[in-house]
Amino acid sequence: MKIGCPKEIKPQEFRVGVTPNAAREAVAHGHTVLIETGAGVGAGFDDDAYRAAGAEIIATAPEIFADADMIVKVKEPQAVECKMLREGQILFTYLHLAADPEQTRDLLASGCTAIAYETVTDAHGGLPLLAPMSEVAGKLAPQVGAWTLQKPNGGRGVLMGGVPGVGPARVAVIGGGVVGTHAARVAAGMGADVTVLDRSLSRLRYLDDVFGDQFKTSYASAGNTAELVADADLVIGAVLIPGAAAPKLVSRAQLSIMKPGAALVDVAIDQGGCFETSHATTHEDPIFEVDGILHYCVANMPGAVARTSTIALGNATMPFMLALADKGWRQACEDDPHLLDGINVHAGKLTYYAVGKALGINVISPTLALKE
Ligand SMILES: NC(=O)c1ccc[n+]([C@@H]2O[C@H](COP(=O)([O-])OP(=O)(O)OC[C@H]3O[C@@H](n4cnc5c(N)ncnc54)[C@H](O)[C@@H]3O)[C@@H](O)[C@H]2O)c1
Repeated sequence: MKIGCPKEIKPQEFRVGVTPNAAREAVAHGHTVLIETGAGVGAGFDDDAYRAAGAEIIATAPEIFADADMIVKVKEPQAVECKMLREGQILFTYLHLAADPEQTRDLLASGCTAIAYETVTDAHGGLPLLAPMSEVAGKLAPQVGAWTLQKPNGGRGVLMGGVPGVGPARVAVIGGGVVGTHAARVAAGMGADVTVLDRSLSRLRYLDDVFGDQFKTSYASAGNTAELVADADLVIGAVLIPGAAAPKLVSRAQLSIMKPGAALVDVAIDQGGCFETSHATTHEDPIFEVDGILHYCVANMPGAVARTSTIALGNATMPFMLALADKGWRQACEDDPHLLDGINVHAGKLTYYAVGKALGINVISPTLALKE
């Protein structure tokens, strides 16, 4: 199969869909890998690294779209890219179609088979191609929170770990899933006094069993949440209700009882945010202030560490990419129901129920698509 990887064209996107390591494995499996020149530069991979892995460097994206059997990317295709997709071609990337009617319409019109990273599942009920980015965002959250707390950035001027004779920062992490667990581990590692709040008792039990004394756990009742938020120097929002907008767990009124200069890092901003006063920001201008409380609300946090994020994503996508290339999408999806869950669009039909429901478009089952 010819696997094509164009350079990402969404503003501020430095990741790349295929790493040199993934290219090397695909070539070893007998496939041809076409990389647009400069595609990996933002993640620290120059053209020579791909050449050394056996890939071909191609001058332009249109040539790649015209020649490849499968396009592997990071971000959803932009309108100009959708126009280059064609019937019978596989697109393997993040799509997030439920909130994007234009892209959905364009993908349907293209006739391609689009497999979304974010809906591929695993045997434990998890989302294996979303998890690496949650791990990255979780580990970044205390790092950016610590920076936000510094006085020159408008923060409270509190050091995460304190020093002998001066206590550490108090950190509340709301949501103890993938993001929350990684955030809590890093914040605790920096020496902060950390409490993780969650509504799932089984999750709290797991955290308590595995992490013991590294951080505390608390049931996320409205009362407990309000108390810990009022006492915190840094609050990290990391909740997720799958398929729904994030619940607002800290109101504007609550800001007035927080410590002046305290920081909120709303990792859940990509689902609308879990603080009432949050709005999405960018890496260029990440922080804003409301009622004396600093907000960091960057919607694509992993982009700040494009190299780590690219490698982490590549490790997770590579086995699926190889299965698709080795067997073709039909056989690969027949053999692996978790990959089948990833199919969102096939030959002009929508195949993912939640997207159809959100956008009011008829859906056929992916199993039916396999037979078409
Ligand atoms: N901003 C970014 O760059 C970025 C990057 C990656 C992930 N995210 C987002 O981070 C959020 C968390 O992702 P995740 O992978 O950790 O999800 P997850 O499903 O692993 O964890 C979410 C946790 O929230 C808990 N929860 C749900 N409602 C709650 C409530 N009312 N109070 C307390 N806890 C509650 C759940 O029990 C679960 O443990 C998502 O919105 C995700 O999209 C953002």
